[in-house]
Amino acid sequence: MTALPLPVREDARPGAERPGCGPDIALEIRGLAKTYQGFGASPPKAALKGIDLDVPRGAFFGLLGPNGAGKSTLINILAGMVDKTAGSVRIWGHDIDTDRRAAKMAIGIVPQELNIDPFFTPKQLLDLQSGLYGLRKSEYRTKEILQAVGLADKANAYTRQLSGGMRRRLLIGKAILHSPPIVVLDEPTAGVDVELRQNLWNYMRRLNAAGATILLTTHYLEEAEKLCDTIAIIDEGDLIACAPTAELIGRLDHKEMTVTVEQDLDAVPAALSRFDVTLAGPRRLVFRFKRSDQPMCAIIEAINEARLVIADLSTSEGRLEDVFLELTRGHQQGKA
Ligand SMILES: Nc1ncnc2c1ncn2[C@@H]1O[C@H](COP(=O)(O)OP(=O)(O)O)[C@@H](O)[C@H]1O
Ligand SMILES: [Mg+2]
Repeated sequence: MTALPLPVREDARPGAERPGCGPDIALEIRGLAKTYQGFGASPPKAALKGIDLDVPRGAFFGLLGPNGAGKSTLINILAGMVDKTAGSVRIWGHDIDTDRRAAKMAIGIVPQELNIDPFFTPKQLLDLQSGLYGLRKSEYRTKEILQAVGLADKANAYTRQLSGGMRRRLLIGKAILHSPPIVVLDEPTAGVDVELRQNLWNYMRRLNAAGATILLTTHYLEEAEKLCDTIAIIDEGDLIACAPTAELIGRLDHKEMTVTVEQDLDAVPAALSRFDVTLAGPRRLVFRFKRSDQPMCAIIEAINEARLVIADLSTSEGRLEDVFLELTRGHQQGKA
């Protein structure tokens, strides 16, 4: 995908006037709940249980959660594809119940499912969508959008002939052709190969840099950690965390230190047994500790006392994956 003029509406840009919108909030979600009706033998399913969430203007916001957490339900409510059971949503200041059209114009949504009518060409699809958004012919930017998502040479191909990656890009084009200030992508990189994932990441970064507020759902922790400045975690329909990415990682108090020694060991030396340590190889000791305890000096002294010679030493911070497990585990226990 190329870095062509990015379609972001004027009022999305920093410092622009935004009538009808809180000064800093792109998406305001209050008490949002959704219960899917059961049918036959299957009982009703509470997919969202009262979510409060503010997505700040200009954010690269990650909505993270395991499969079935309720991410797509939330996105589909924003898209008007699922009716909420309770709560309120304002998109760029416009209430989705009372101001549906303005809300719709302010957001572009790339759904998780790659459902595209196979008998349209990309050009026809984008022209049609532009019409649905009420754009005048002179405002159609089909060619520019196809170029921006790297599909200029596929303008007249049947979409059924496009690869999965191309379809994903076409759906991105379809979502941004009315230059919305908010772009939402529901698991855009699920099942996508490494190269396309990198492309999509770059593209999303550029959209964000051009002023768009990005809301990304993912169950890839690494993806959220790399791209997002703020991360919200949902699990089983509840919001269990929402914080700047660095702070969320900082909450994790685990650290590991791996020490390689010059002697072969067949067990952890007694002098080290007071630490949480395992022998991970004949010469490798892995210490686990709470960062706040700061035991590193004591560990190194104890290693010296055990008359071991340190050949190498490295430490690693906790990963977002661990924060996630910790938080969701706490959540499960809280319910038990
Ligand atoms: N149309 C539907 N009817 C009934 N249950 C649904 C429907 N869509 C989703 N669910 C259920 O709601 C829960 C949340 O689903 P979803 O929002 O798709 O989660 P996620 O996108 O985080 O994987 C899941 O338990 C799912 O099975
Ligand atoms: Mg989903």
